[in-house]
Amino acid sequence: MVKKFNIELIPDMTGKVCIVTGSNTGIGKACAMELAQQNAHVIVASRTPARGIAAVKEIQETTGNAKVEFLQLDLASIESVSQFVTEFKAKNLPIHLLMNNAGVMACPYELSKDGIEMQFATNHASNIFVGHFYLTTQLLPIIEASAPSRIVNVSSNGHRFIQCRGLRLEELNDKDKYGSFMAYGRSKAANILFTRELNRRLEAKGVQNVYVNANHPGVVDSELARYSSPIIQKILKTFVLISTRDGSLTQMYLATSPDVEKNNIKGKYYIPYGVEKQPERESTSESNQTLLWDFTENLLKNIIPDYTGAGI
Ligand SMILES: NC(=O)c1ccc[n+]([C@@H]2O[C@H](COP(=O)([O-])OP(=O)(O)OC[C@H]3O[C@@H](n4cnc5c(N)ncnc54)[C@H](OP(=O)(O)O)[C@@H]3O)[C@@H](O)[C@H]2O)c1
Repeated sequence: MVKKFNIELIPDMTGKVCIVTGSNTGIGKACAMELAQQNAHVIVASRTPARGIAAVKEIQETTGNAKVEFLQLDLASIESVSQFVTEFKAKNLPIHLLMNNAGVMACPYELSKDGIEMQFATNHASNIFVGHFYLTTQLLPIIEASAPSRIVNVSSNGHRFIQCRGLRLEELNDKDKYGSFMAYGRSKAANILFTRELNRRLEAKGVQNVYVNANHPGVVDSELARYSSPIIQKILKTFVLISTRDGSLTQMYLATSPDVEKNNIKGKYYIPYGVEKQPERESTSESNQTLLWDFTENLLKNIIPDYTGAGI
């Protein structure tokens, strides 16, 4: 496949502060490594301290960049997201890039600490949707103040899984109706709908230079299939899996390429390697965008007693 974007095209990122969720392994770690290689200040936002700290050490040793740090973030817990935001704010740093990358795929039925189906809890605005929604909207004032800045929501071609059944948010926590891949598809469709709705709201507010986009990274050789049965894992291995480095390219394009600002790329969905694609209908419907936004706001109101809303 022709690469419209490659590692050599990642520009110098000196002076840029970048948060990458789920960057202790897989595609997120590859992104954190490339950002650090280009001199960015990188926040490795991940849930397991031992894995996060090990990744930071590896990235620092490989790139020689000391400005790589771990900050704990469990996206399946709103309390943890709040703590992350508080700790990050105490650093008084700008945010030039928020890469919402962390995700889980097709895990068995489970509710998050806040009582939300795990993939939706985690993926929404990446495959931890509610956590990423809250993280993004809480950090948005800093992202706006740091503009030009970018938000990249890592979605998946799996957003297509819901094409026949629809979003069905009312079935979110219904164990009897739970299908692990359908739930993954819903969370990944949510990433695209969130991208489009957030972009719409920023434009309505008159914000010109915050670039919010979504992507599918490709079918990548990572730990993502860890919850799948050996048979499913075997089937997935029959796909031509690309490396995490190649898998990072499309989101690195949206995160760093000067094209994004030059061509005013906003609210879009990109596939490997840096090519725009129209998502499926369920993920572009304006009524789904509004429905999802209001639904998520209501979930947060139920979890956080003094929640005052996304603020945009
Ligand atoms: N691999 C593919 O073929 C593929 C295809 C399409 C889309 N994607 C998307 O690409 C993104 C990255 O996936 P990957 O392939 O790199 O998978 P991966 O190797 O499994 O990495 C996932 C990352 O997300 C983190 N994570 C999971 N749950 C979390 C939580 N509650 N809070 C914070 N971090 C959490 C993991 O942390 P731990 O290590 O602590 O678990 C890990 O760092 C995901 O959004 C995925 O849906 C991947």
